[in-house]
Amino acid sequence: MDIHQIRSQFPQLGEKVYGRQLVYLDNAATSLRPVQVVEKWDEMSLRHNSNLHRAVHKTAVDATEEYESTRAAVAAFIGAAEPAEIIFTSGTTQSCNLLASCLENGGFFREGDEILICGSEHHSNIVPWQMVAGRKGLKIKVLPVDDRGEIRISELPALLSGRTRLCAVAQVSNVLGIINPIPEIARICHANGTLLFVDGAQGIPHLATDVRQLGCDFYAFSGHKMYAAPGTGILYGRRELLEAFPPYMGGGEMIESVSWEKTTYAPIPRRFEAGTQNISGVPTLRPAMEMCKLLESREISAGSDKIRTFLLDFFASRPDITLYGNPADPARKLPIFSITVEGAHHEDLALILDKMGIATRSGQMCAEPLMDRFGVTGMLRASFAPYNTMEEAVYFTECLQKAIDMLK
Ligand SMILES: Cc1ncc(COP(=O)(O)O)c(C=O)c1O
Repeated sequence: MDIHQIRSQFPQLGEKVYGRQLVYLDNAATSLRPVQVVEKWDEMSLRHNSNLHRAVHKTAVDATEEYESTRAAVAAFIGAAEPAEIIFTSGTTQSCNLLASCLENGGFFREGDEILICGSEHHSNIVPWQMVAGRKGLKIKVLPVDDRGEIRISELPALLSGRTRLCAVAQVSNVLGIINPIPEIARICHANGTLLFVDGAQGIPHLATDVRQLGCDFYAFSGHKMYAAPGTGILYGRRELLEAFPPYMGGGEMIESVSWEKTTYAPIPRRFEAGTQNISGVPTLRPAMEMCKLLESREISAGSDKIRTFLLDFFASRPDITLYGNPADPARKLPIFSITVEGAHHEDLALILDKMGIATRSGQMCAEPLMDRFGVTGMLRASFAPYNTMEEAVYFTECLQKAIDMLK
């Protein structure tokens, strides 16, 4: 399939804003949805709607089959050992909170223990850990990034102590777009007896991911950033770790038996999925994963590589523009471009670009500590998906130039 056939499957790419063709460059916030995903969503809502796991009637059995076969497909997609290692959540944020809560309530942390968090993390991989740290008397340490945005991996061994129980790091930062060296981080952490949690929200839409090759203990991502329905997410964890966890929430479906005297809990993963789940949304992960695989084809990824090279050259040629996330090896950069422009505020740029039909993101990008690290109040981010074209990249640079001229 060529890029035009792919684009025809994303109807929103044909939309106009302010009378201009939409150029959607806010994919890191949420991706657009292909028709296959919307069709599956409709099919679940219009034909197979029924609560899961409970009833014996055919419609309930069908809905449950859709849900559980999606769990198996997700396990295969990320290389988990078995479907039971896949917990459905509402998104990466809930996955982080579920993990933090289960580690806390499972007695994993003792006062004085440490959590090491990478300096370029999204707030959802910072705040839940700060909340646990506050309640349990833990110390938060920061794994810094250098001026290029690369993790200072040489400092990792010295930052780990005998008290460092967990390291939390993104596969790819939502601001910098750099593919972090997760296997190396995993090796160093495990040699120290430290567990590794990887936030895959930005990695999974672009990178074929195998959690066992990455070497992480836990991995989280959101469906809506990889073409699936919003309100879907995953937490992966190794079986032996999940089995030691207490439940996350109490309610229906997460129990084995309930009496006034004693309640016992269902085995993993249902122990973590209390109440009615996202019946229509979860099955959309299947066509979404198919789309991810399709978009990894050589032809499409070659197009994305050309866009990356074009934009890296463009930003490098502009002394008035600072690009954040500039790895020594450009092959480790995903097409997420966060910039500041001398003399032009990021929000003004985003507003002008919007009037030209271009959707970008401006502000702190839910990564305030990283903004502080680079001494800026915010950035302008253009994040590309594999369905974006070189024509759109060129149009973006032309419009950015016009916006800068208007503001200077
Ligand atoms: C790296 C990263 N982690 C976590 C999140 C939170 O994802 P969600 O809002 O889908 O829970 C995001 C969203 O932008 C992200 O980019």
